[in-house]
Amino acid sequence: MPAIIQFTKSCSKTIDTIVVPIVDGKVTALKDVVSAPVLKKMKSCITDKNGCFDGKHGSCVQFSSNDKDKFTTYILVAVDKGSKALDLEKIGGKICVYLSANKIKTAAVLDVLKAEDVAALANGFYLRSYKFMKYKTDDKAKVQDITLKIACDKKANADREFTKMKSISDAVFFARDVVSEPPNALYPESYAKEIKKTLRGLGVKITVLDDKKLDKMGAGALTAVGKGSDRKPRLVIVEYDGRSKKVKGEKPIALVGKGVTYDTGGYSLKPGGSMEKMKMDMGGSAAMIGTMKALAANKVDTYVVAVVALAENMIAGNAYRVDDVLTSLSGKTIEVINTDAEGRLCLADALTYVQDKYDPSVVVDAATLTGACMGALGTDMAGVFSNDKKLETSFWKNGDVTGDHFWPLPVNDDFDKQIESPIADMRNLGTSRLGGASTAAVFLRRFITNDRPWAHLDIAGTAWAEKDYDLIPKGASGFGVRALYHWVSNYK
Ligand code: BES
Ligand code: MN
Ligand code: ZN
Repeated sequence: MPAIIQFTKSCSKTIDTIVVPIVDGKVTALKDVVSAPVLKKMKSCITDKNGCFDGKHGSCVQFSSNDKDKFTTYILVAVDKGSKALDLEKIGGKICVYLSANKIKTAAVLDVLKAEDVAALANGFYLRSYKFMKYKTDDKAKVQDITLKIACDKKANADREFTKMKSISDAVFFARDVVSEPPNALYPESYAKEIKKTLRGLGVKITVLDDKKLDKMGAGALTAVGKGSDRKPRLVIVEYDGRSKKVKGEKPIALVGKGVTYDTGGYSLKPGGSMEKMKMDMGGSAAMIGTMKALAANKVDTYVVAVVALAENMIAGNAYRVDDVLTSLSGKTIEVINTDAEGRLCLADALTYVQDKYDPSVVVDAATLTGACMGALGTDMAGVFSNDKKLETSFWKNGDVTGDHFWPLPVNDDFDKQIESPIADMRNLGTSRLGGASTAAVFLRRFITNDRPWAHLDIAGTAWAEKDYDLIPKGASGFGVRALYHWVSNYK
């Protein structure tokens, strides 16, 4: 269970520990709030050259007080003046780590920040406190809740701000949960059920197309990927219309996600080491569904449709092979060069479906698509590929606000030449071993109709955090939910 956050008018006497934000190293600002001896201790603590407090944003130090003070433990945390919401969220994350490391279960926060700042701090704390404990049988591992009680004289404002932030964080948690789920529990059919469950009561319309419908429809790329598995593919469509004024003929925003619940590579089998963690290969779809959850929970004034393609890439007598030629939903044919380049096949049919059915004004897809993107950008940034400079820039800039960082990579005709095929309309792999993130992107571009603005987000490197971050404990990151929520909310 993640942390419990409560806002109160004042701090209750039953709490021993208090967190004191020190803005720009100025303790004097606290002289009316704490007793003189405590203030003195604070001063010496933050100036102690041998101490662990370096005054840098997020640095923490603690001391105890046995005076008649209300609290026995004081934790000072350095906060830079003029910190933005994301900086305060990171402070919250650092406090969460500090409290856990010191086995402190309940703490108060001194009322020195503005309501929206304290809400951001609380949200960072909440995001960092996430744990996936479902499969632990030891009860002790399960109950690790920390309670943070935050005094704020503008309690109502802080509460309102935090409630909104928390609903987005809960959508991030949905994404982290499904990415963490092992592939024996999460497969296309069960995943579709989870999607329905998490969106229940939020006023969205959900349609699930099963393998029979997909076959009939002619979604030959998606069904090929799922053919070798006993767990058959699904296409899940989620519509959210939260427009205050419904303009007739207005087109929706489309979100498309790769939902490969497990990627063995198929007959182009992954070597053992690379197969590990391939349960995360549905991270793009998790980001899109999480985004829908957050938009609907906050009743954002917008019209969005999300389509996620769910399949399991396995080996069997009836699995698709290298050299197969597939007919996609668009009618275009694809020569299979590598069955491990399956994500683009799933996305191709999902992209066609959403454009044919909804004629969206803009399309954004997210996918754990290529190791090559990881090779180029590492694991702290996702790639953005777009046919529209403005769209590309909006994702690139988005990172400063949401912490989901993107960097632009090319999608152009030179790469497109590499996917020509002698037998079919295209092949699913570039001719060169290099530039694989861009050859995947040009493949997707072939399925974009009417020169529609489109962006492809390759989140292969960011969907799983290999180390702890301020807002993400090691593991499934929920990457993309915050970025896409922010992007959709501001899209004009
Ligand atoms: N799901 C993988 C990409 C991936 C790699 C995601 C590492 C997360 C972490 C994708 O389906 C894949 O296998 N890509 C291949 C493409 C290759 C066959 C052209 C890759 O990147 O090696
Ligand atoms: Mn693959
Ligand atoms: Zn994959």
